[in-house]
Amino acid sequence: MDSIVTNAVAAAGCFLAYTRIVRVASWVIGAALETVMSVTNLPGGSTSASAGVPPTKVTMPALAEMKRQGKPIVALTAYDYPTSRLADEAGIDLILVGDSLAMVVLGQENTLATTVEEMLHHTRAVRRAVRRALLVADMPFGSYHGTISEGVANAIRFVKEAGAEAVKIEGPRVELVRALSEAEIPVVGHLGLTPQSLHRMGGYRVQARSAEAALQLKADAHALALAGAGALVLEGVPREAAAVITADLPIPTIGIGAGPDCDGQILVFHDLVNLTFAPAAKFVRRYADAGSLIRTAIEHYREDVEHRAFPSDEESYHLPEVARQALEAARKTETLHKV
Ligand code: KIV
Repeated sequence: MDSIVTNAVAAAGCFLAYTRIVRVASWVIGAALETVMSVTNLPGGSTSASAGVPPTKVTMPALAEMKRQGKPIVALTAYDYPTSRLADEAGIDLILVGDSLAMVVLGQENTLATTVEEMLHHTRAVRRAVRRALLVADMPFGSYHGTISEGVANAIRFVKEAGAEAVKIEGPRVELVRALSEAEIPVVGHLGLTPQSLHRMGGYRVQARSAEAALQLKADAHALALAGAGALVLEGVPREAAAVITADLPIPTIGIGAGPDCDGQILVFHDLVNLTFAPAAKFVRRYADAGSLIRTAIEHYREDVEHRAFPSDEESYHLPEVARQALEAARKTETLHKV
């Protein structure tokens, strides 16, 4: 008994010491409490792309450095614990909890109905998984379209309540970007095809298709950079326009449907692995067919249950032999009584 207690106390001591080390390490690199929890809950958790090497945290200044060095920034959306953990462990630099959540996870027709609460909920799940990547939360439609102070207050929630390290906002909202920067909240801008402007644009259309429109986009990009944005998503714009903007802009551009000359690329996770139930847009490259993989797995499971091939004896729990014999004897006695 004593040794059980001693061992338990020793184990608890080790666990607390480990937790404390992780907390200190996380504090040093500036990680949020949620990160600490994911590390302590999952011993042997995330590893970097190069196994065994502690991952170097990607920060907003690190993205600027990558642009300076001509190193492509790899970004991906994620919305839940397992996929964001896989993305982080695969070495993705920036993980965006996009409001595309509405369409690819929640089955809505567009992004407009997404709420702050939904985005916070999913950002927290992603926060628990991500250790290395910069974690950016998308501010949903309506959460920054009123007064500047409402926008700042909502952005603060993403940092404080969900552990986001930056927020993304759509459109040339220069005043808001300045206010967010003054409130110490890093901002990723988003120009070109901005899905929250769906109704104004009259559909999801490629933007900046004339020289004038491309120059306006360039002016907007510079205004956002000047106001303090740390990076800029360029979506659905001609390659030539994105190239000109990228060449002159002091902050990194991250393209989606904007050609290969941006400083980085982002894709929606569900597009990348074919989980969208819709034809892919021109700019999407499918790297896997998770849709088929999951469908086949579920069909096999259904067939196995229908044919009583699942679970097998090996997949079942068993009584100890003595209990099994006692049960058998009791059953026989019951049968005798019934006769
Ligand atoms: O919501 C989202 O997924 C996005 C990306 C497409 C950039 O904004």
